Amino acid sequence: MNLPRRAKIVEVGPRDGLQNENRTVPVAVKIGLIDRLADAGLQVVEAGSFVSPKWVPQMADSGDVLRGIARKPGVSYPVLVPNLKGLEVALAAGAEEIAVFSAASETFSRKNTNCSVAEGLERFRDVCDAARRHGIPIRGYVSCVLGCPYEGEVKPGAVAAVAEQLMALGCYEVSLGDTIGVGTPGKTRSMIEAVTRNLPVDRIAGHFHDTYGQALANCYAALDCGVAVLDSSIAGLGGCPYAKGATGNVATEDVLYMLNGLGIETGVDLDRLIDAGAYICGILGRETASKTARALLAKRA
Ligand code: HMG
Ligand code: MG
Repeated sequence: MNLPRRAKIVEVGPRDGLQNENRTVPVAVKIGLIDRLADAGLQVVEAGSFVSPKWVPQMADSGDVLRGIARKPGVSYPVLVPNLKGLEVALAAGAEEIAVFSAASETFSRKNTNCSVAEGLERFRDVCDAARRHGIPIRGYVSCVLGCPYEGEVKPGAVAAVAEQLMALGCYEVSLGDTIGVGTPGKTRSMIEAVTRNLPVDRIAGHFHDTYGQALANCYAALDCGVAVLDSSIAGLGGCPYAKGATGNVATEDVLYMLNGLGIETGVDLDRLIDAGAYICGILGRETASKTARALLAKRA
């Protein structure tokens, strides 16, 4: 086994999760969730996105969210930015870290950002140059790394090529997203091996959605390849508005339970994480998608 001793969890629930909710989630609730997640010990909590409100109205209040959170020292609160306009608004709201996003599939890129992969990366060149001038760290995402809802199979080489271009634009870390949750551990391994042929594994993150129940197994495969950063979503919230049928990310509670069991340090408190999940599920009026949360809540009761 090749497992890291320490791992970083990047909590994406307030963005990747809540961007997919049909009903409006009040700003105060988003703030309450983000603050609870930071208080649980998460070092990175993705706080929203500054995309077109015509495309994703759920995130239109991200400026108010950023202005309202209690920024904890040592915690970063990245926000998704699709273009220079998004960067401008994000900076005005006090963003201190951004994330840019591309895809390993042409059709998904068009559906998600109305441009080709090459055009999107060109757009991000300006965004990244401007962010760097402001001293803002940039995280990168590649979507559809294990399959595309429109094109089907995606070649590991295509993922590697986009990841390399994002890194060349100045991303300090590139997160590999199984946007529709179709991957399995063997495919995860092959894809990560292809990406790490030219990029250092310590700058790669895994981002697995759980549509087919494979996300935790894929996380384990990624860890076994030396990946020490995993994206996850509290209570398994989410999906992707441009990937029909895709369910949420792997639940943060389940990832933490597994990491704890493997003796991999994270600095995150499971009990407080369970509280954060119970808070948002209570407000959304739904049961958690996390099996760990269900088990521990049943034990508490
Ligand atoms: P477009 O329609 O081609 O762009 O969208 P446009 O420049 O023609 O703008 C259209 C309108 O939006 C204009 O308004 C702009 O001003 C406005 P109008 O003149 O019609 O009144 N606009 C903006 N407003 C606020 N902030 C902005 C902004 N940009 C334009 N930043 C665009 C192109 C890229 C903007 C659009 O396609 C977009 O916002 N896409 C984002 C979609 C999205 O957020 N998807 C989900 C996130 S990705 C994801 O979930 C995957 C991930 O989790 C990893 C994984 O799982 O794989 C990261
Ligand atoms: Mg996602």
